[in-house]
Amino acid sequence: MNENIPENLSPEECAGKIFEISGVRFEPEIAADLWEKILQHKWLLSEKVGRDVGFRTACIDFVENMEQALDEYMTYQRRDILIEMGAQKIGREIWDTISDSQPPKQLVRRRIILPLTEEHISTKHGVTPPKSIIFFGPPGTGKTHFVKAIAGVLSWWYVEIAPSMLMEEGTEKVGANLRRIMGKARKLEEAVIFIDEFDELAGCRDNADRLDKSITNEFLKQVPLFKNEAKKVLLVCATNYIRQLDPALLRPGRFDCIIPVGGLNDDERKTILQYYLSRLNTGEIDIERIVKETSRFTPADIQYLFEQVAQFAFEHEIVEKEDHKVTTETIFQILPKVRPSMTDEILEEFERDSDTYARV
Ligand SMILES: Nc1ncnc2c1ncn2[C@@H]1O[C@H](COP(=O)(O)OP(=O)(O)OP(=O)(O)O)[C@@H](O)[C@H]1O
Ligand SMILES: [Mg+2]
Repeated sequence: MNENIPENLSPEECAGKIFEISGVRFEPEIAADLWEKILQHKWLLSEKVGRDVGFRTACIDFVENMEQALDEYMTYQRRDILIEMGAQKIGREIWDTISDSQPPKQLVRRRIILPLTEEHISTKHGVTPPKSIIFFGPPGTGKTHFVKAIAGVLSWWYVEIAPSMLMEEGTEKVGANLRRIMGKARKLEEAVIFIDEFDELAGCRDNADRLDKSITNEFLKQVPLFKNEAKKVLLVCATNYIRQLDPALLRPGRFDCIIPVGGLNDDERKTILQYYLSRLNTGEIDIERIVKETSRFTPADIQYLFEQVAQFAFEHEIVEKEDHKVTTETIFQILPKVRPSMTDEILEEFERDSDTYARV
């Protein structure tokens, strides 16, 4: 069937057309929004029955079964957004391999995971799960790892927005891109939206140029919109430089939790060391000695150390042509080649930032 579906209608014209076909009158702004959904519904319905059903039928069917049709429309729209944003499913194992004592695991469990998974009890007690959180801390301490762990344990989508993605079309477009992407993110359900290197988008306006200021302003507008509209969606931002963020963002109301992710104590390091050791071909290992000698190591340093150890063992076996087991001595041989990232200065700065900014 060939039919002319009018394009570029004004909201009033959309309302008029929908009324003419279905007999139901909508406010012009709502009708304009419905127009696009009816077109999508026409496509869906045609796919279902295997022929073009035409605009009239789609319009009548949409209006008669509006609730269900809207649900279907949203499901399709979400699917498209998830594809466009490169959403990933993350397994539960990341969460399980983080030591229970590693901050902020217990905090995240109490404040974020439990209120979302024990919905009935949280509603009963009037507990509202956080919708927007910031992780801050030195590089390599596990911020991104935590965000993935949250998505994994909730079985939600993991969607990462890198500031570089927003800057692809030049800095002038960042504000508009941010608005567009956040608008899409708000429509998702069961998704963790992660903005890494968040300071690049929301730096302090006092020492910013005009363009940076407008990006920060846009971000300030987007956070409350996100919190008001989005349903089961968690916005997580991460930064190494919490003190560079605009103070207006850090005030209560915008972000529900501001969570420090810092150094590891012996127990926490031990769990991570054991995790990486379990992936090697090991012989005799004195874990306590390794724990002692890695006191300033971040998770990223530990990961790097074990990559080096694995390569070393692999090359030895190739040359020696016999089973090569990694021992404590192997690790001590490689250890001097890995410089720990945590210094007194970084730790002191982090402690100060935690005292000033943390809100949990
Ligand atoms: N608890 C953990 N167990 C095992 N590996 C971990 C753990 N935490 C982090 N890692 C690993 O350490 C590396 C660094 O972690 P991550 O990328 O999360 O740090 P980050 O704080 O986001 O760093 P940056 O500030 O540079 O973005 C990653 O490869 C991650 O997989
Ligand atoms: Mg990171």
